[in-house]
Amino acid sequence: MATLPRVCVIGAGSSGIAGAKALLEHGVPFDVYEKSDRVGGNWVFGNRNGMSSAYRTLHINTSRERMEYSDFPMPKDFPDFPHHSHIARYFDDYVEHFGLREHIRFETGVEHAGRGEDGVWEVRVEGGDVHEYDAVMVANGHHWDPRWPEPRFPGSFSGREMHAHDYKGPEDFEGRRVVILGMGNSAMDLAVDASYVASETYLAARRGAHVVPKYLAGKPIDQPWRHGRLASLVAHPRVPWPVRQRLLEKTLAEHVGRMEDYGLPAPDHRIGEAHPTVSGRILDRLAHGAIAPKPNLAELRGDRVAFADGSEVEADVVVYCTGYKVTFPFFDEDFVSAPDNDLPLFRRVFHPEIPDVFFLALLQPLGATMPLAEAQGRWIADYLRGEYALPEREALLDDIRREREAMFKRYVRSKRHTMQIDYDQYLWDLERERRAGAARARDAGFPLPVPARAGVAA
Ligand SMILES: Cc1cc2nc3c(=O)[nH]c(=O)nc-3n(C[C@H](O)[C@H](O)[C@H](O)COP(=O)(O)OP(=O)(O)OC[C@H]3O[C@@H](n4cnc5c(N)ncnc54)[C@H](O)[C@@H]3O)c2cc1C
Ligand SMILES: NC(=O)c1ccc[n+]([C@@H]2O[C@H](COP(=O)([O-])OP(=O)(O)OC[C@H]3O[C@@H](n4cnc5c(N)ncnc54)[C@H](OP(=O)(O)O)[C@@H]3O)[C@@H](O)[C@H]2O)c1
Repeated sequence: MATLPRVCVIGAGSSGIAGAKALLEHGVPFDVYEKSDRVGGNWVFGNRNGMSSAYRTLHINTSRERMEYSDFPMPKDFPDFPHHSHIARYFDDYVEHFGLREHIRFETGVEHAGRGEDGVWEVRVEGGDVHEYDAVMVANGHHWDPRWPEPRFPGSFSGREMHAHDYKGPEDFEGRRVVILGMGNSAMDLAVDASYVASETYLAARRGAHVVPKYLAGKPIDQPWRHGRLASLVAHPRVPWPVRQRLLEKTLAEHVGRMEDYGLPAPDHRIGEAHPTVSGRILDRLAHGAIAPKPNLAELRGDRVAFADGSEVEADVVVYCTGYKVTFPFFDEDFVSAPDNDLPLFRRVFHPEIPDVFFLALLQPLGATMPLAEAQGRWIADYLRGEYALPEREALLDDIRREREAMFKRYVRSKRHTMQIDYDQYLWDLERERRAGAARARDAGFPLPVPARAGVAA
C-alpha cells in the first residue's frame, strides 16, 4: 500500500474523537489538536476553552441510545436523558477505551490552517509551531459562537443583556425578572430553570414551535423501535417524509395538543419543518402560570422591555437564546467560511472545491450528532485510503444542489436551517453512497485521491 496521507484533526469534542478513532482503525496517520485540557467540548461544563454552552442543569434531549456511538454503549445505569456530567464522562471513557488519548495534543489550539498551491497544509498551533499535513478534518463545533439578534433591537436596556451561551445556572436568574427570547431548545431549558427561581419569567418568540415531549407512552419519543412494530415501520427512512410527518402530527395532536392551548403562538409551519424543540417540562410550567408567553421583542426601554403586541414589562435580565454562528477562526475567510451559517458541502462532509478538507457533524440533525460523526469519520477514512471515490464533479455538484433545494423547501427560512438533516435518512443514504463510491474506487484501481506529500514538521 502507498504511504497514506497525514491528517490534522481540529478539535477533540464528540465529533473529533469519533473521526480520530476511524482514522486510527483504518491506519491513516493523524494528529488531533485540542484547545482544552480534556476531550468532550460542549459537554464539559465550565470547559477551560471558554467555548462550552453547557449549564449546570443541562441534560441531553436526544435519548441515550440515539446518542451513543455504535460500538460503545452508554452504561445501562445512565438515565434515558443523562446529565452533561454523564455525557462528558462517557466521551472520556471512549477515548481511554480506544487508545485515542496519546494522539491528542491538548492545550494546543490551531491558530491558522492554510493550504499551499502544492496541496500541502501548513497548520500553525498555539505557541507558534507550524506542522505540515496532507488533509484537515474540521471538528471545532458550531455551538459556541453566539449569534445575537440581527439587527439588535432598538433602544437600550439598563439591566443585564446576555446570550444563552453565557448562562451558567439558575443562580443567574434568582429573584430577578427575566425575559427569554427564542423558541429553540436553549430557550425552553432556560425558561424552565428561570420559572423556579426568578420573580417573573417571560418567554418571547417571533415564531411558534411544535414542542415535542421527551417521552411518549413511557418511552423516549426518539426510539421508534420501543413504540411497537408500526412505529418502527413508519419511522423507517424508506417511508416517504410526508407519511412520517402525518403520523408524527397525529401522534402529537393526540398526546400534546395545540400549542395555543398552552398560551404559545401557533407555529407557522408543520411539524418537522423546523429544528425540533424538545422539552418535557415547558408546557407544564406554562400550565402552572410560572412562565408568561410573549410575542417578539420590539424595543428596549431602560428598565422595561416592549413587545410586538404593544405590551411592556419591567425586567432585570434579557436572555437571547437566538442560536449560534458557524465559524472557522483558523481559516482565512475568503478560503473557507459559512456566511449566514451556510457552507454547501457534499453530504455535509466534502468541500466541492478542496479535495482534502472534511467537516464532521457540521449539520443539524433530527437526532444526535455522535453516530453521524462516527459514520462520517469512517467514510473519510475510506476516501483517504482510496477505497471510496467521490462522484464525478457534475454529479457531485448536482447532488449538493438537490439536497439544498429540498432542505430549503422543507424548512422555515432561518439562519438556523442551513444544514438540517434527518438522522435515519442521512445514515441510510450515507451507507448507499459509501457502497457506490467503493465500486467507483474499485473500477478506477483504488487511486489515492489525496497524495502523501507533507513532512511532519516544517
Ligand atoms: C446546550 C446544548 C445542548 C445540546 N444538546 C445536544 C443533544 O442533546 N444531543 C445532540 O446530539 N447534540 C446536542 N447539542 C449539539 C452539540 O453541538 C453536540 O452535542 C456536540 O457537542 C457536537 O460535538 P463537536 O465535537 O462537533 O463540537 P464541540 O462539542 O463544540 O467540540 C469542539 C471541540 O473542538 C475544540 N476546538 C475548537 N476550536 C479549536 C481550535 N482552533 N483548535 C483546537 N481545538 C479546537 C474545542 O475545544 C472542543 O473541544 C447541544 C448543543 C448545545 C449548545
Ligand atoms: N437540552 C438540550 O439538549 C439542548 C439545549 C439547548 C440547545 N440545544 C441544541 O443546541 C443548538 C442550538 O439551540 P438554540 O436553542 O440555542 O438555538 P436555535 O435552535 O438556533 O434557536 C434560536 C431561536 O432564536 C430565534 N431567533 C433567532 N434570531 C432571532 C431574532 N433576531 N429575533 C427573535 N428570535 C430570534 C429563532 O427563531 P426562528 O426559528 O424564527 O429563526 C429560534 O427560535 C440546537 O442544536 C439545539 O438542539 C440542546
